[in-house]
Amino acid sequence: MPEAVRRTFVVATVPVALVALLGAAAPPSAGSSGVGDPYFPLAGNGGYHVGHYGLTLRYDPGTGHLVGKAVISARATQRLSRFDLDFNGLTVTGLTVDHAKADFSRDGQELVVTPRHVLRKGQRFDVTVTYKGTPGPVTDPDGSLDGWIPTDDGAFVAGEPQGAMTWFPANNHPTDKSSYDFTITVPKGHTAVANGVLLGERTAHGKTTFRWRQSEPMAAYLATATVGKFQVEQFTTRDGIKVYNAVDPREAADAAPVLKKLPSVLEWESKLFGPYPYRAAGSIVDRAPNVGYALETQTRPVYDSAPSLSTLVHESAHQWFGDSVSLTSWKDIWLNEGFATYAEWLYDEQHGGDSAQQAFDALYARPASDGLWEFPPGDPGSGANIFGTPVYARGAMTLHVLRKAVGDRAFFRILRAWAAEHRNGNGTTAQFVRLAERVSGKNLDDLFQIWLYTPGKPNKP
Ligand code: TRP
Ligand code: ZN
Repeated sequence: MPEAVRRTFVVATVPVALVALLGAAAPPSAGSSGVGDPYFPLAGNGGYHVGHYGLTLRYDPGTGHLVGKAVISARATQRLSRFDLDFNGLTVTGLTVDHAKADFSRDGQELVVTPRHVLRKGQRFDVTVTYKGTPGPVTDPDGSLDGWIPTDDGAFVAGEPQGAMTWFPANNHPTDKSSYDFTITVPKGHTAVANGVLLGERTAHGKTTFRWRQSEPMAAYLATATVGKFQVEQFTTRDGIKVYNAVDPREAADAAPVLKKLPSVLEWESKLFGPYPYRAAGSIVDRAPNVGYALETQTRPVYDSAPSLSTLVHESAHQWFGDSVSLTSWKDIWLNEGFATYAEWLYDEQHGGDSAQQAFDALYARPASDGLWEFPPGDPGSGANIFGTPVYARGAMTLHVLRKAVGDRAFFRILRAWAAEHRNGNGTTAQFVRLAERVSGKNLDDLFQIWLYTPGKPNKP
């Protein structure tokens, strides 16, 4: 390199390198109000990651009143002057950052926090938020309710995709996964069920406190703190998984024969998808007639009524696909719903029911005008469509077409590799396509282009 050129090179790069090295000269900036999800632009927040949530809640089903405290242990990913939490509705009664009072304001679903001091990039900090009020659900773009949904004896708590912010302040996007501790106090006679392992239960002065720990990383939308009058059953499976079932007595007779199969369903899915990702499992069977869906709340799905066996298989499959391997963007929702639906087909096929091919053929027979073909599953178009039929059914059909193209050996290897390589993490559709091509040694671009992204009914595969 000629001397003159080299000198300019040096002059230009040294300050840049120094700034990068010291970090100090970078001006602090506000964390963004969302992580950039195209369907939910305000979901999650920029500038930090949450390592752990410590949630302490007191709920009175009689009045619907909730008193809460969230201790959020986070780490700054940029030099941070200000950051947001997603939190909607309840009243904030106090807020500290590292035990120092911090300024805050509310702007829609954003709780905007200005700490006393600028946070260094990489700095760990604790945010403590105390709050109270009468929580209620949010209405999703598709008109369904999620979040804190009061019932006649407590609350059905399910946060997909937005509802976590109705009951605790969070970095509410599946790209930020964290461990959780829950301490939930309810009137004696009620049960509060959250995720993970039950650490303890204590009754004093007419109230019972339940302590739950979710140690493996969890997306905020998969957290629950469902409250009701429940029949409880606890046992450990042959594989050492701690099972806790909570069932509304009015649903118990219908639920019992299905819940009895949970250990065998988890065993069967472990053979197909690889080891069950968590140390705890179970079910919450509530009676919540205004909900209309079940949710794969981590370790312990919540059902609005006694589930069918197919629904149990579906929510259990989500523990691998959705919970352990989480979305990077809500647009990729077929990675959750297509996989959980295909698990239902596989279960039927291997338990004396219809084959996956039969399930595929029955759907494929629907005319081009049917809602099944309304939009392609890899591109639902908006948050209003993420739970639409094409996501579930054509998503599952896509996996079946993949299976036919690569053969059973490669197909089940792909499923297991997907669960293993992204375990307790996140994935994208593009990563899944690359993995499928790597494992099968085939070019699958056309297959996925047609089945995931092309509008209208595809030609017969
Ligand atoms: N993910 C849930 C399941 O399929 C379904 C679900 C969650 C849902 N939230 C919803 C369906 C809102 C319709 C509307 O297991
Ligand atoms: Zn599902």
